Amino acid sequence: MSISIIAASLFVCTFVSADPIRFDGHKVLQILPHNVEQLEQVLQLHDLLDLDIWRLPRKNNISMDVYVEPEKLDHVLTEIKAIGADVKIWIDDLQKLIDEEKQPAKRSFHLPIPLHGKNAVFDHLSYHRFATIKQYLADVVTATQSMSTVNASLSTIGYSSEANEIQVLKVSRGDGQSRPSIFIDGGIHAREWISPATVLYFINQMVYGDEFDYAPQLLDKFDWYFAPVLNPDGYEYSHTTYRLWRKNRVPNGRNCYGTDLNRNFGYQWNPNVGGSTNVCSDVYSGTNAFSEKESTAVQTFLLNNNQNMVAYLTYHSYGQMWLYPWGYTSALPDDWQDLDAAAKIGTSALSELYGTQYTVGSSTNVLYSAAGGSDDWAKGGAGVKYSYTIELRDTGAHGFVLPQNQIEPNCRESWRGLAAFAMSLNARKG
Ligand code: ARG
Ligand code: ZN
Repeated sequence: MSISIIAASLFVCTFVSADPIRFDGHKVLQILPHNVEQLEQVLQLHDLLDLDIWRLPRKNNISMDVYVEPEKLDHVLTEIKAIGADVKIWIDDLQKLIDEEKQPAKRSFHLPIPLHGKNAVFDHLSYHRFATIKQYLADVVTATQSMSTVNASLSTIGYSSEANEIQVLKVSRGDGQSRPSIFIDGGIHAREWISPATVLYFINQMVYGDEFDYAPQLLDKFDWYFAPVLNPDGYEYSHTTYRLWRKNRVPNGRNCYGTDLNRNFGYQWNPNVGGSTNVCSDVYSGTNAFSEKESTAVQTFLLNNNQNMVAYLTYHSYGQMWLYPWGYTSALPDDWQDLDAAAKIGTSALSELYGTQYTVGSSTNVLYSAAGGSDDWAKGGAGVKYSYTIELRDTGAHGFVLPQNQIEPNCRESWRGLAAFAMSLNARKG
């Protein structure tokens, strides 16, 4: 290839992969209505101006965090003052947080050092692109081939709308016995980068051993399935183009993209309960239940592997909550006390390291109602008894843009919570 062709193709490359959209001066406001009427008016305003609510009002705390572009700021502030609600600037400049997020984390003293694999130095304390994550998973498989006590195998359970692999890594003793299983996923929502990072950390601890020596007990008791990036298209888009992207990237027409995968699962699916029929909405529920390739991949996989599956855990951020069904109704499952007790064992172990507090409860009761969540379907549709959505760090100071140097404390405490939770289960399908 001549120099000029190389130069021309380089030019084309830089031209098509435009820089990510910037968020200079973009703010997150914390709005506190004083009563239900004000709350209603604020929610109407949000519909009207198409605002992105990062943290919705909860049952016992009707304040909310709302993301506002600079063009809308004056208008929003005027309207909120007219309503009479309190408002303060919670995050002053999102771009600053996004820049800070890129700062490398301090080195860890708590991670085991992987001995094998091309990416022997895969850095668990950074956020990674999808291709790097895939390479890591492949390396883990190779590494376990020369280990006698742990086995890892990788399967592609489906493809995203942009034809990226949706992968599940099974980690087990590999001694020919089959054990009750636990399924863990991450990255349903694109912008929640701490979620894939946490699931990858779990894989690492399980395979290479961990500082608390939980891994051997966890492997003796269960087979583990990990799906770190369920929404690879959205995840990549949040890296290349728009940091705050939530949905997948399916084209909907009207120049709007994406379905909210966590409104698309088919147990009591209903766009009118916490979702939307508007294709441009951040919580668009899809044309029908399981209209999306990513949610269907999970459905098929779980239905084929749920025989002895005791727990389903889906990791999201943010808010520090350990939530159980239902999300579609305020009613509770019959066995909610079992789920509540097991979650509390998890959160109390989690808090031992750094004192991080998590709220436990049903997602409708602590958060808000939203139908079509993967947790509701895992329990109601696939019959997995212990089904949870876990909202990781933080409680809003950085929101989705959690700095890399919180990856380690977040993951360490979450690993401890997971281990205590799993060891407390009496391992049969309820
Ligand atoms: N933040 C998550 C969401 O809005 C919470 C999901 C809780 N589960 C549920 N079935 N609504 O998607
Ligand atoms: Zn989420």
